Amino acid sequence: MGKYLVHHSGPLSGEVVISGAKNAVLPLMAAALLSEDKCVIRDVPQLRDVAFMKEILTSLGAEIEEVEENTISIVTEDIVSTEAQFDLVNKMRASILVMGPLLARKGRARMPLPGGCAIGARPIDLHLKGLEALGAEIIFKDTYVEARAGGQGLIGDTIYLDFPSVGATENIMMAAVLAEGVTFIENAAEEPEIVDLANFLNKMGARIKGAGTDTIKIEGVKHLSGAKHTVIPDRIEAGTFMLAAAITRGNVRISNAVPDHLKPIIAKLRECGVRIEVGDEYLIVRGDLGPQSATDIKTLPYPGFPTDIQSPFMAYLTTVEGASTVIETVFENRFMHVSQLRKMGASIETAGNKAIIKGNASLRGTQVMATDLRAGAALVLAGLAAEGVTEISEIYHIERGYEKFIEKFRGLGAVIERIDD
Ligand code: EPZ
Repeated sequence: MGKYLVHHSGPLSGEVVISGAKNAVLPLMAAALLSEDKCVIRDVPQLRDVAFMKEILTSLGAEIEEVEENTISIVTEDIVSTEAQFDLVNKMRASILVMGPLLARKGRARMPLPGGCAIGARPIDLHLKGLEALGAEIIFKDTYVEARAGGQGLIGDTIYLDFPSVGATENIMMAAVLAEGVTFIENAAEEPEIVDLANFLNKMGARIKGAGTDTIKIEGVKHLSGAKHTVIPDRIEAGTFMLAAAITRGNVRISNAVPDHLKPIIAKLRECGVRIEVGDEYLIVRGDLGPQSATDIKTLPYPGFPTDIQSPFMAYLTTVEGASTVIETVFENRFMHVSQLRKMGASIETAGNKAIIKGNASLRGTQVMATDLRAGAALVLAGLAAEGVTEISEIYHIERGYEKFIEKFRGLGAVIERIDD
Protein backbone atom coordinates (compact mmCIF):
# COMPACT_ATOMS: atom_id res chain seq x y z
CA MET A 1 0.00 0.00 0.00
CA GLY A 2 1.51 3.34 -0.87
CA LYS A 3 0.76 7.01 -0.62
CA TYR A 4 1.27 10.03 -2.84
CA LEU A 5 2.36 13.38 -1.46
CA VAL A 6 1.09 15.87 -4.04
CA HIS A 7 2.56 19.34 -3.64
CA HIS A 8 1.00 22.51 -5.02
CA SER A 9 2.35 22.49 -8.58
CA GLY A 10 2.06 24.26 -11.84
CA PRO A 11 1.36 25.62 -14.21
CA LEU A 12 2.22 22.27 -15.82
CA SER A 13 4.09 22.49 -19.10
CA GLY A 14 5.73 20.22 -21.67
CA GLU A 15 4.64 17.05 -23.42
CA VAL A 16 3.01 13.86 -22.18
CA VAL A 17 2.73 10.72 -24.36
CA ILE A 18 -0.45 8.70 -23.89
CA SER A 19 -0.22 4.93 -23.34
CA GLY A 20 -2.33 2.15 -24.84
CA ALA A 21 -5.87 2.02 -23.47
CA LYS A 22 -6.51 -0.14 -20.39
CA ASN A 23 -10.13 -0.64 -21.41
CA ALA A 24 -9.11 -1.78 -24.88
CA VAL A 25 -6.18 -4.07 -24.02
CA LEU A 26 -8.16 -6.17 -21.50
CA PRO A 27 -10.79 -7.39 -24.02
CA LEU A 28 -8.08 -7.74 -26.71
CA MET A 29 -6.14 -10.10 -24.41
CA ALA A 30 -9.30 -12.11 -23.70
CA ALA A 31 -10.01 -12.34 -27.46
CA ALA A 32 -6.64 -14.03 -28.00
CA LEU A 33 -8.16 -17.11 -26.28
CA LEU A 34 -10.29 -17.60 -29.40
CA SER A 35 -7.38 -18.86 -31.53
CA GLU A 36 -4.72 -21.54 -31.05
CA ASP A 37 -2.36 -19.37 -33.11
CA LYS A 38 -0.05 -16.63 -31.86
CA CYS A 39 -1.45 -13.15 -31.28
CA VAL A 40 0.89 -10.18 -30.84
CA ILE A 41 -0.42 -7.05 -29.12
CA ARG A 42 1.58 -3.79 -29.15
CA ASP A 43 1.29 -0.66 -26.99
CA VAL A 44 0.25 -2.79 -24.01
CA PRO A 45 0.36 -0.51 -20.95
CA GLN A 46 2.27 -1.86 -17.94
CA LEU A 47 -0.57 -1.94 -15.41
CA ARG A 48 -1.66 -4.18 -12.55
CA ASP A 49 -4.90 -4.91 -14.40
CA VAL A 50 -2.89 -6.20 -17.39
CA ALA A 51 -0.84 -8.36 -15.01
CA PHE A 52 -4.07 -9.75 -13.54
CA MET A 53 -5.43 -10.56 -17.01
CA LYS A 54 -2.13 -12.30 -17.87
CA GLU A 55 -2.52 -14.43 -14.70
CA ILE A 56 -6.07 -15.40 -15.63
CA LEU A 57 -5.24 -16.27 -19.25
CA THR A 58 -2.20 -18.30 -18.15
CA SER A 59 -4.37 -20.25 -15.68
CA LEU A 60 -6.65 -21.14 -18.62
CA GLY A 61 -3.78 -22.40 -20.80
CA ALA A 62 -2.40 -19.35 -22.58
CA GLU A 63 1.36 -18.89 -22.97
CA ILE A 64 2.20 -15.20 -22.70
CA GLU A 65 5.60 -13.68 -23.47
CA GLU A 66 7.01 -10.17 -23.27
CA VAL A 67 8.26 -9.77 -26.86
CA GLU A 68 9.68 -6.34 -26.03
CA GLU A 69 8.66 -3.46 -23.80
CA ASN A 70 4.90 -2.91 -24.17
CA THR A 71 4.52 -5.82 -26.65
CA ILE A 72 3.20 -9.26 -25.66
CA SER A 73 2.53 -12.49 -27.53
CA ILE A 74 -0.32 -14.80 -26.49
CA VAL A 75 -0.58 -18.41 -27.70
CA THR A 76 -3.40 -20.63 -26.48
CA GLU A 77 -2.78 -23.92 -28.27
CA ASP A 78 -5.16 -25.64 -25.91
CA ILE A 79 -7.45 -24.36 -23.19
CA VAL A 80 -6.62 -26.47 -20.12
CA SER A 81 -9.35 -25.09 -17.89
CA THR A 82 -12.70 -23.43 -18.51
CA GLU A 83 -12.94 -22.09 -14.98
CA ALA A 84 -11.49 -18.75 -13.87
CA GLN A 85 -10.08 -18.90 -10.33
CA PHE A 86 -11.93 -17.02 -7.60
CA ASP A 87 -8.85 -15.22 -6.26
CA LEU A 88 -8.02 -13.88 -9.71
CA VAL A 89 -11.55 -12.83 -10.68
CA ASN A 90 -11.97 -11.19 -7.30
CA LYS A 91 -9.09 -8.83 -8.09
CA MET A 92 -10.52 -7.52 -11.33
CA ARG A 93 -14.08 -7.27 -12.62
CA ALA A 94 -12.95 -7.31 -16.25
CA SER A 95 -12.06 -11.01 -15.77
CA ILE A 96 -15.67 -11.62 -16.81
CA LEU A 97 -14.48 -10.95 -20.37
CA VAL A 98 -12.97 -14.46 -20.63
CA MET A 99 -16.47 -15.95 -20.44
CA GLY A 100 -17.43 -15.33 -24.07
CA PRO A 101 -14.18 -16.67 -25.55
CA LEU A 102 -14.21 -19.79 -23.31
CA LEU A 103 -17.81 -20.52 -24.30
CA ALA A 104 -17.05 -19.97 -27.98
CA ARG A 105 -13.95 -22.16 -28.06
CA LYS A 106 -14.72 -24.87 -25.48
CA GLY A 107 -18.51 -24.71 -25.06
CA ARG A 108 -18.20 -24.08 -21.34
CA ALA A 109 -17.21 -21.30 -18.91
CA ARG A 110 -17.40 -21.22 -15.12
CA MET A 111 -16.80 -17.96 -13.25
CA PRO A 112 -17.18 -16.74 -9.70
CA LEU A 113 -19.78 -13.97 -9.78
CA PRO A 114 -17.70 -10.76 -9.95
CA GLY A 115 -18.24 -8.57 -6.94
CA GLY A 116 -19.44 -5.02 -7.16
CA CYS A 117 -17.07 -2.21 -6.35
CA ALA A 118 -17.05 1.31 -4.95
CA ILE A 119 -18.91 2.75 -7.94
CA GLY A 120 -21.77 0.29 -8.08
CA ALA A 121 -23.21 -3.23 -7.93
CA ARG A 122 -22.01 -3.84 -11.51
CA PRO A 123 -24.22 -6.86 -12.28
CA ILE A 124 -23.62 -9.12 -15.28
CA ASP A 125 -27.25 -9.83 -16.21
CA LEU A 126 -26.83 -8.36 -19.71
CA HIS A 127 -23.74 -10.51 -20.35
CA LEU A 128 -25.70 -13.64 -19.37
CA LYS A 129 -28.81 -12.59 -21.32
CA GLY A 130 -26.69 -12.36 -24.46
CA LEU A 131 -24.92 -15.68 -23.96
CA GLU A 132 -28.26 -17.36 -23.25
CA ALA A 133 -29.67 -15.91 -26.48
CA LEU A 134 -26.82 -17.65 -28.32
CA GLY A 135 -28.06 -20.96 -26.91
CA ALA A 136 -25.95 -21.26 -23.77
CA GLU A 137 -27.51 -22.76 -20.66
CA ILE A 138 -26.79 -20.50 -17.66
CA ILE A 139 -26.51 -22.26 -14.29
CA PHE A 140 -25.99 -20.53 -10.93
CA LYS A 141 -24.29 -22.60 -8.24
CA ASP A 142 -23.48 -20.89 -4.94
CA THR A 143 -21.28 -17.93 -5.84
CA TYR A 144 -20.45 -19.30 -9.28
CA VAL A 145 -22.12 -18.94 -12.64
CA GLU A 146 -21.63 -21.47 -15.42
CA ALA A 147 -22.47 -21.16 -19.10
CA ARG A 148 -22.73 -24.30 -21.24
CA ALA A 149 -23.30 -24.43 -24.99
CA GLY A 150 -25.56 -27.17 -26.30
CA GLY A 151 -24.16 -30.12 -28.27
CA GLN A 152 -24.36 -28.19 -31.50
CA GLY A 153 -22.44 -25.21 -30.08
CA LEU A 154 -23.61 -21.61 -30.03
CA ILE A 155 -26.22 -20.44 -32.55
CA GLY A 156 -26.38 -16.83 -33.76
CA ASP A 157 -29.42 -14.74 -32.78
CA THR A 158 -30.56 -11.15 -32.32
CA ILE A 159 -29.87 -9.67 -28.88
CA TYR A 160 -31.23 -6.36 -27.58
CA LEU A 161 -29.21 -4.84 -24.73
CA ASP A 162 -31.44 -3.01 -22.24
CA PHE A 163 -28.42 -0.78 -21.54
CA PRO A 164 -25.50 -0.32 -23.99
CA SER A 165 -23.13 -2.14 -21.67
CA VAL A 166 -19.48 -2.05 -22.80
CA GLY A 167 -18.54 -5.38 -21.21
CA ALA A 168 -21.69 -7.17 -22.29
CA THR A 169 -21.22 -6.00 -25.90
CA GLU A 170 -17.61 -7.25 -25.83
CA ASN A 171 -18.46 -10.62 -24.23
CA ILE A 172 -21.34 -11.32 -26.63
CA MET A 173 -19.27 -10.29 -29.66
CA MET A 174 -16.46 -12.67 -28.61
CA ALA A 175 -18.96 -15.51 -28.11
CA ALA A 176 -20.74 -14.87 -31.43
CA VAL A 177 -17.67 -14.88 -33.70
CA LEU A 178 -17.50 -18.71 -33.67
CA ALA A 179 -21.26 -19.29 -33.43
CA GLU A 180 -23.31 -20.93 -36.19
CA GLY A 181 -25.07 -18.25 -38.27
CA VAL A 182 -25.55 -14.52 -37.81
CA THR A 183 -25.82 -12.50 -34.57
CA PHE A 184 -27.09 -8.93 -34.24
CA ILE A 185 -26.37 -6.96 -31.08
CA GLU A 186 -28.90 -4.15 -30.86
CA ASN A 187 -28.49 -1.11 -28.59
CA ALA A 188 -24.81 -2.11 -28.50
CA ALA A 189 -22.14 0.01 -26.79
CA GLU A 190 -20.38 2.32 -29.29
CA GLU A 191 -17.16 3.03 -27.38
CA PRO A 192 -13.83 3.18 -29.32
CA GLU A 193 -12.71 0.15 -27.32
CA ILE A 194 -15.53 -1.86 -28.95
CA VAL A 195 -14.29 -0.80 -32.41
CA ASP A 196 -10.71 -1.74 -31.46
CA LEU A 197 -11.85 -5.21 -30.38
CA ALA A 198 -13.89 -5.70 -33.58
CA ASN A 199 -10.90 -4.64 -35.70
CA PHE A 200 -8.68 -7.16 -33.90
CA LEU A 201 -11.26 -9.96 -34.25
CA ASN A 202 -11.68 -9.18 -37.98
CA LYS A 203 -7.89 -9.41 -38.41
CA MET A 204 -8.21 -12.89 -36.84
CA GLY A 205 -10.77 -13.83 -39.50
CA ALA A 206 -14.03 -12.82 -37.85
CA ARG A 207 -16.77 -11.14 -39.86
CA ILE A 208 -18.03 -8.20 -37.81
CA LYS A 209 -19.78 -5.11 -39.18
CA GLY A 210 -21.21 -2.06 -37.45
CA ALA A 211 -18.88 -1.80 -34.45
CA GLY A 212 -19.08 1.78 -33.22
CA THR A 213 -22.77 2.00 -34.04
CA ASP A 214 -25.74 0.79 -31.98
CA THR A 215 -26.17 -2.34 -34.12
CA ILE A 216 -23.36 -4.84 -34.59
CA LYS A 217 -23.64 -7.76 -37.05
CA ILE A 218 -21.46 -10.82 -36.49
CA GLU A 219 -21.40 -13.63 -39.03
CA GLY A 220 -20.07 -16.74 -37.31
CA VAL A 221 -16.97 -18.43 -38.79
CA LYS A 222 -15.43 -21.83 -38.15
CA HIS A 223 -11.95 -20.78 -37.10
CA LEU A 224 -9.90 -17.75 -36.08
CA SER A 225 -6.18 -17.34 -36.77
CA GLY A 226 -3.62 -15.32 -34.84
CA ALA A 227 -3.13 -11.62 -35.61
CA LYS A 228 -1.00 -8.61 -34.75
CA HIS A 229 -2.61 -5.48 -33.34
CA THR A 230 -1.71 -2.16 -31.74
CA VAL A 231 -3.89 -1.00 -28.84
CA ILE A 232 -5.62 2.37 -29.33
CA PRO A 233 -4.44 5.23 -27.10
CA ASP A 234 -6.16 5.63 -23.75
CA ARG A 235 -8.79 8.37 -24.13
CA ILE A 236 -9.39 8.47 -20.39
CA GLU A 237 -5.69 8.97 -19.63
CA ALA A 238 -5.62 11.70 -22.31
CA GLY A 239 -8.66 13.38 -20.73
CA THR A 240 -7.03 13.20 -17.30
CA PHE A 241 -3.94 15.05 -18.55
CA MET A 242 -6.07 17.61 -20.41
CA LEU A 243 -7.66 18.38 -17.05
CA ALA A 244 -4.24 18.51 -15.37
CA ALA A 245 -3.26 21.25 -17.83
CA ALA A 246 -6.55 23.08 -17.19
CA ILE A 247 -6.57 22.86 -13.38
CA THR A 248 -2.98 24.15 -13.12
CA ARG A 249 -3.59 26.80 -15.80
CA GLY A 250 -0.76 25.21 -17.76
CA ASN A 251 0.29 24.64 -21.37
CA VAL A 252 0.60 20.94 -22.20
CA ARG A 253 1.01 18.97 -25.43
CA ILE A 254 -0.74 15.60 -25.29
CA SER A 255 0.80 13.24 -27.85
CA ASN A 256 -0.36 9.83 -29.15
CA ALA A 257 -3.98 10.81 -28.64
CA VAL A 258 -7.04 10.32 -30.88
CA PRO A 259 -8.87 13.69 -30.77
CA ASP A 260 -11.94 12.06 -32.33
CA HIS A 261 -12.32 9.98 -29.14
CA LEU A 262 -12.11 13.11 -26.97
CA LYS A 263 -14.86 15.29 -28.49
CA PRO A 264 -17.03 15.66 -25.34
CA ILE A 265 -14.00 16.58 -23.19
CA ILE A 266 -12.69 19.06 -25.78
CA ALA A 267 -16.14 20.64 -26.11
CA LYS A 268 -16.69 20.97 -22.35
CA LEU A 269 -13.22 22.37 -21.63
CA ARG A 270 -13.69 24.90 -24.44
CA GLU A 271 -17.01 25.91 -22.85
CA CYS A 272 -15.01 26.65 -19.68
CA GLY A 273 -12.64 28.89 -21.61
CA VAL A 274 -9.71 26.51 -22.07
CA ARG A 275 -8.03 26.92 -25.47
CA ILE A 276 -7.37 23.61 -27.25
CA GLU A 277 -5.43 23.10 -30.48
CA VAL A 278 -6.37 19.80 -32.14
CA GLY A 279 -3.84 17.99 -34.38
CA ASP A 280 -4.06 14.60 -36.11
CA GLU A 281 -2.62 12.65 -33.19
CA TYR A 282 -2.05 15.32 -30.53
CA LEU A 283 -3.71 18.13 -28.63
CA ILE A 284 -2.27 21.29 -27.10
CA VAL A 285 -4.23 22.35 -24.03
CA ARG A 286 -3.83 25.97 -22.87
CA GLY A 287 -5.18 26.64 -19.44
CA ASP A 288 -3.03 29.76 -19.23
CA LEU A 289 -4.90 32.02 -21.64
CA GLY A 290 -7.59 33.81 -19.67
CA PRO A 291 -10.36 33.27 -17.13
CA GLN A 292 -12.22 29.98 -16.85
CA SER A 293 -15.84 29.51 -15.90
CA ALA A 294 -18.43 26.92 -14.97
CA THR A 295 -20.18 24.42 -17.23
CA ASP A 296 -22.64 21.54 -16.82
CA ILE A 297 -21.78 17.87 -17.33
CA LYS A 298 -24.03 14.84 -17.84
CA THR A 299 -22.34 11.47 -18.24
CA LEU A 300 -23.72 9.15 -20.94
CA PRO A 301 -22.63 6.11 -22.92
CA TYR A 302 -20.32 6.97 -25.83
CA PRO A 303 -20.40 9.28 -27.76
CA GLY A 304 -21.75 11.14 -24.71
CA PHE A 305 -19.57 12.55 -21.94
CA PRO A 306 -17.54 9.65 -20.45
CA THR A 307 -18.35 8.62 -16.88
CA ASP A 308 -14.64 7.85 -16.30
CA ILE A 309 -13.81 11.55 -16.68
CA GLN A 310 -16.60 12.73 -14.37
CA SER A 311 -14.56 12.81 -11.15
CA PRO A 312 -11.40 14.40 -12.64
CA PHE A 313 -13.59 17.01 -14.33
CA MET A 314 -15.38 17.73 -11.04
CA ALA A 315 -12.03 18.42 -9.37
CA TYR A 316 -11.32 20.98 -12.10
CA LEU A 317 -14.78 22.59 -11.76
CA THR A 318 -14.06 23.44 -8.11
CA THR A 319 -11.41 25.90 -9.37
CA VAL A 320 -13.32 27.88 -12.03
CA GLU A 321 -15.62 30.94 -11.72
CA GLY A 322 -19.26 30.12 -11.00
CA ALA A 323 -21.37 27.08 -10.12
CA SER A 324 -21.45 23.89 -12.23
CA THR A 325 -23.74 20.86 -12.17
CA VAL A 326 -22.63 17.27 -12.76
CA ILE A 327 -25.14 14.49 -13.40
CA GLU A 328 -23.90 10.87 -13.35
CA THR A 329 -26.23 8.56 -15.29
CA VAL A 330 -24.02 5.49 -15.93
CA PHE A 331 -23.07 4.24 -12.43
CA GLU A 332 -25.27 4.47 -9.38
CA ASN A 333 -22.61 5.44 -6.86
CA ARG A 334 -19.88 7.41 -8.55
CA PHE A 335 -19.66 10.44 -6.23
CA MET A 336 -17.27 8.82 -3.71
CA HIS A 337 -14.70 11.52 -4.51
CA VAL A 338 -17.07 14.31 -3.34
CA SER A 339 -16.42 13.77 0.38
CA GLN A 340 -12.68 13.75 -0.25
CA LEU A 341 -12.81 16.96 -2.31
CA ARG A 342 -14.88 18.56 0.48
CA LYS A 343 -12.09 17.67 2.94
CA MET A 344 -9.81 19.76 0.72
CA GLY A 345 -12.14 22.75 0.94
CA ALA A 346 -14.42 22.23 -2.07
CA SER A 347 -18.07 23.25 -1.75
CA ILE A 348 -20.16 20.51 -3.41
CA GLU A 349 -23.79 19.62 -2.73
CA THR A 350 -25.21 16.30 -3.95
CA ALA A 351 -28.77 15.05 -4.35
CA GLY A 352 -29.04 11.56 -5.87
CA ASN A 353 -27.04 11.47 -9.08
CA LYS A 354 -26.70 15.25 -9.30
CA ALA A 355 -23.91 17.37 -7.82
CA ILE A 356 -23.66 21.16 -7.68
CA ILE A 357 -20.10 22.45 -7.50
CA LYS A 358 -19.35 25.99 -6.34
CA GLY A 359 -16.29 27.44 -8.08
CA ASN A 360 -13.32 29.42 -6.81
CA ALA A 361 -12.70 26.98 -3.96
CA SER A 362 -9.55 27.63 -1.94
CA LEU A 363 -8.37 24.04 -2.02
CA ARG A 364 -5.84 23.09 0.63
CA GLY A 365 -3.79 19.96 1.06
CA THR A 366 -4.86 17.39 3.63
CA GLN A 367 -5.13 13.61 4.03
CA VAL A 368 -7.51 12.00 1.53
CA MET A 369 -8.19 8.51 0.21
CA ALA A 370 -8.59 7.15 -3.31
CA THR A 371 -11.83 5.14 -3.52
CA ASP A 372 -11.59 4.05 -7.16
CA LEU A 373 -9.28 4.55 -10.09
CA ARG A 374 -10.72 7.77 -11.46
CA ALA A 375 -11.60 9.27 -8.06
CA GLY A 376 -7.93 8.80 -7.16
CA ALA A 377 -6.89 10.66 -10.32
CA ALA A 378 -9.31 13.46 -9.39
CA LEU A 379 -7.59 13.84 -6.00
CA VAL A 380 -4.16 14.09 -7.66
CA LEU A 381 -5.49 16.90 -9.88
CA ALA A 382 -7.01 18.68 -6.89
CA GLY A 383 -3.72 18.27 -5.01
CA LEU A 384 -1.81 20.02 -7.80
CA ALA A 385 -4.06 23.07 -7.43
CA ALA A 386 -4.36 22.98 -3.61
CA GLU A 387 -2.18 24.99 -1.27
CA GLY A 388 0.27 22.86 0.65
CA VAL A 389 0.63 19.09 0.39
CA THR A 390 -2.12 16.52 -0.24
CA GLU A 391 -1.49 13.01 1.10
CA ILE A 392 -3.42 10.43 -0.92
CA SER A 393 -3.72 6.88 0.45
CA GLU A 394 -5.01 3.67 -1.25
CA ILE A 395 -3.07 4.61 -4.40
CA TYR A 396 -3.20 1.02 -5.66
CA HIS A 397 -6.53 2.06 -7.17
CA ILE A 398 -4.71 4.64 -9.30
CA GLU A 399 -1.71 2.53 -10.25
CA ARG A 400 -3.91 -0.31 -11.57
CA GLY A 401 -5.08 1.87 -14.43
CA TYR A 402 -2.56 4.62 -15.26
CA GLU A 403 0.86 3.66 -16.64
CA LYS A 404 3.82 5.57 -15.15
CA PHE A 405 1.30 8.00 -13.66
CA ILE A 406 3.51 10.16 -11.44
CA GLU A 407 6.52 9.89 -13.77
CA LYS A 408 4.35 11.46 -16.48
CA PHE A 409 3.17 14.19 -14.08
CA ARG A 410 6.75 14.87 -12.94
CA GLY A 411 7.69 15.21 -16.61
CA LEU A 412 5.25 18.13 -16.77
CA GLY A 413 6.70 19.81 -13.67
CA ALA A 414 4.39 18.39 -11.00
CA VAL A 415 5.92 17.82 -7.55
CA ILE A 416 4.65 14.41 -6.42
CA GLU A 417 6.38 11.97 -4.06
CA ARG A 418 5.47 8.30 -3.71
CA ILE A 419 5.77 6.80 -0.23
CA ASP A 420 5.67 3.04 0.31
CA ASP A 421 3.99 2.08 3.60
C1 EPZ B 1 -16.40 -0.48 -18.77
O1 EPZ B 1 -16.93 -1.11 -17.62
C2 EPZ B 1 -15.10 0.15 -18.32
N1 EPZ B 1 -14.18 -0.89 -17.85
C3 EPZ B 1 -15.37 1.15 -17.20
O2 EPZ B 1 -14.13 1.77 -16.86
C4 EPZ B 1 -16.33 2.22 -17.74
O3 EPZ B 1 -16.64 3.13 -16.70
C5 EPZ B 1 -17.61 1.55 -18.25
O4 EPZ B 1 -17.28 0.56 -19.24
C6 EPZ B 1 -18.58 2.55 -18.86
O5 EPZ B 1 -17.95 3.23 -19.91
C7 EPZ B 1 -13.55 -1.66 -18.76
O6 EPZ B 1 -13.73 -1.53 -19.97
C8 EPZ B 1 -12.62 -2.71 -18.22
P1 EPZ B 1 -20.84 -1.27 -18.45
P2 EPZ B 1 -18.22 -2.10 -17.76
O7 EPZ B 1 -21.12 -2.72 -18.55
O8 EPZ B 1 -18.13 -2.88 -19.01
C9 EPZ B 1 -24.76 -1.63 -15.83
C10 EPZ B 1 -12.44 2.53 -15.44
O9 EPZ B 1 -12.38 3.40 -14.56
N2 EPZ B 1 -24.76 -3.04 -16.25
O10 EPZ B 1 -20.98 -0.40 -19.65
O11 EPZ B 1 -18.33 -2.84 -16.47
C11 EPZ B 1 -23.63 -1.35 -14.85
O12 EPZ B 1 -24.03 -1.69 -13.54
C12 EPZ B 1 -13.65 1.62 -15.51
O13 EPZ B 1 -11.56 2.35 -16.33
C13 EPZ B 1 -25.86 -3.83 -15.93
O14 EPZ B 1 -26.82 -3.37 -15.31
O15 EPZ B 1 -19.39 -1.03 -17.87
C14 EPZ B 1 -23.39 0.12 -15.02
O16 EPZ B 1 -24.31 0.83 -14.22
C15 EPZ B 1 -14.68 1.94 -14.45
N3 EPZ B 1 -25.85 -5.14 -16.30
C16 EPZ B 1 -23.69 0.35 -16.50
O17 EPZ B 1 -24.43 -0.79 -16.95
C17 EPZ B 1 -24.80 -5.71 -16.98
O18 EPZ B 1 -24.87 -6.91 -17.31
C18 EPZ B 1 -22.44 0.49 -17.36
O19 EPZ B 1 -21.72 -0.69 -17.23
C19 EPZ B 1 -23.69 -4.89 -17.29
C20 EPZ B 1 -23.69 -3.56 -16.92
